[in-house]
Amino acid sequence: MSFRDLPKVELHLHLEGGAPPVFIRGLATEKGLDLSGIFTEDGGYAYRDFDHFLKVYEAACTTLQSPEDFRRLTLAVLEESASHGVVYSETFLSPDFCGGGDLEAWRDYLAAIEDAADEAEAKFGITLRGIVTCIRHFGPEQSRPIARCAVETHGRFIRGFGMAGAEMMGRPGDFAWAFDCAHEAGMHLTCHAGEWGGPDMVADTMRDLAPARIGHGVNAIKDPALVETLAEKGTVLEVCPGSNVFLGATGDWAAHPIARLRDAGVKVTVSTDDPPFFKTTMTHEFDMLARTFGWDEADFAALNKTALEAAFCDDETRAAVA
Ligand code: ADE
Ligand code: ZN
Repeated sequence: MSFRDLPKVELHLHLEGGAPPVFIRGLATEKGLDLSGIFTEDGGYAYRDFDHFLKVYEAACTTLQSPEDFRRLTLAVLEESASHGVVYSETFLSPDFCGGGDLEAWRDYLAAIEDAADEAEAKFGITLRGIVTCIRHFGPEQSRPIARCAVETHGRFIRGFGMAGAEMMGRPGDFAWAFDCAHEAGMHLTCHAGEWGGPDMVADTMRDLAPARIGHGVNAIKDPALVETLAEKGTVLEVCPGSNVFLGATGDWAAHPIARLRDAGVKVTVSTDDPPFFKTTMTHEFDMLARTFGWDEADFAALNKTALEAAFCDDETRAAVA
């Protein structure tokens, strides 16, 4: 068996970020929205840099206007993930794009997403769990209703709380209220840090928000003492190498720190982040890691094991997926 055939576990996938451009283009046409500016001539998403990526991402989200749109999106994203051998996936869900943080609207969107997840599990053999995510550049005030949406819907499907968005806006401690609220409700925590920010951002995130997992975290490599702390504490990094290379957060594949972090004892996992935006898939991520660092089937099996252990699902689901 080749490493390509291993069942894969993915922990870091933004649901809207998984939307195929053709799907968003179709919704735009249905709704009479002119979004031609966000697409390249060959049908991909068009953006210049990370800040522009966030703007194009939010423009694409304007086409997602109803629970039914999210039901269709969830099915499309999971069919694609399953075609790359993903058997378990965790997705970031942003109530900001599902009713603007209103709890009753969020419940309606979530019901449609869960419904699609159940359908995809039966049809494609992929299990999905959700992480409610606030968006950093929408500010600390807006993170509060999002935390409330998380806490009120925490259960079998919604397992965690997290934060994405423009990392250089504010400091992690500004969002402590939202993370504390989710933590007190027994939710699992993850937070994007060290994608654009330096090791100080990772360290402050660990100190002020205490997540079990960090989204990206790759800039920790610049501080050997921090790398040691990550290894000692067993903090799991949701590394998205293809995203980092495509956006220019790190250097090229050869310069990417994932192998050095792993070899220093840090628990690393591999995900796609926003696959069509970065022209990646889990197959591509595995292929590039094999080609760049010589990782073989045993390395990928260990990677999947780390990811499943770090998954936010309950133990019954974990056992069923393994
Ligand atoms: N939202 C979607 N993708 C993201 C990324 N790579 N970093 C921060 N926020 C995001
Ligand atoms: Zn991300």
